[in-house]
Amino acid sequence: MSKSLMVTGASKGIGAAAVERFFHTDNDVTDFILLARESQSFSDFLDKLSADNPHGKRVHPHFIDLADRARIVGLMKDVMSEHGKVDILLNNAGYTSPCAIQQVQFSDFERTIGVNLYAPFTIVQELLHSGNTFELIVNVASTAGMNGRPGWLTYSASKAALITMSEVMKDELAIYGTRVVCISPGRCATDLRKTLAPDEDPSTIMQPEHVAGVIEMLASDLGRFVDSRNLVVRM
Ligand SMILES: NC(=O)c1ccc[n+]([C@@H]2O[C@H](COP(=O)([O-])OP(=O)(O)OC[C@H]3O[C@@H](n4cnc5c(N)ncnc54)[C@H](OP(=O)(O)O)[C@@H]3O)[C@@H](O)[C@H]2O)c1
Repeated sequence: MSKSLMVTGASKGIGAAAVERFFHTDNDVTDFILLARESQSFSDFLDKLSADNPHGKRVHPHFIDLADRARIVGLMKDVMSEHGKVDILLNNAGYTSPCAIQQVQFSDFERTIGVNLYAPFTIVQELLHSGNTFELIVNVASTAGMNGRPGWLTYSASKAALITMSEVMKDELAIYGTRVVCISPGRCATDLRKTLAPDEDPSTIMQPEHVAGVIEMLASDLGRFVDSRNLVVRM
């Protein structure tokens, strides 16, 4: 059976690495619905996929700012009329702008919650409203959502909420046969990590491919045996 995979934050980092894992394997994932804002890195990544597509997979990019809830609602309707279903959903996009409590701008707090929490919620709810039953939903939280870190108030709060929201999704969607797994990566060498820890040497920490490998495993037959409310992925 041919399956569709929707990935948010597909332009780079963990999202792009996950797409590559599924894309370059001769598996049943044939349609890739990829979401990110329009950027050079997204366009370079899409070019890379079309230049090396040995299994004839189909790529459907969508440019969207996930802080814009109304646009997500519209896009999910378009996705369902175009594809009819989303089998695997990787809610991966994440945003952070670390600063001390005194410097937190409320609008930025709202944006963080918008991208990291409301967007995955809205995507899942809208697709359910359209009659979609997922095989698997993977929500990418963070170890920062398990333990708050100084300077990361908005990010930590958004990820803590995502972990808890995933628990509810897991229980409520089980009746449809949907598996919901929340993963919490630790330090991983991406642009987002650079924002959080600018002085760190990226070669000393986990790479996006490592997290992508775990995500691929979750979608495999073996993944059915992972029963975790929050799977920690770290070195
Ligand atoms: N790296 C780590 O150490 C680490 C640890 C724990 C958890 N995580 C989580 O892993 C996930 C992936 O992040 P990453 O580390 O791979 O970072 P990354 O390379 O910076 O990628 C972040 C992705 O999120 C997308 N995104 C951010 N804001 C968006 C918005 N407003 N609208 C649409 N897309 C948006 C970006 O797309 P654009 O091209 O549109 O910017 C990009 O594709 C995030 O949820 C992050 O919180 C990362």
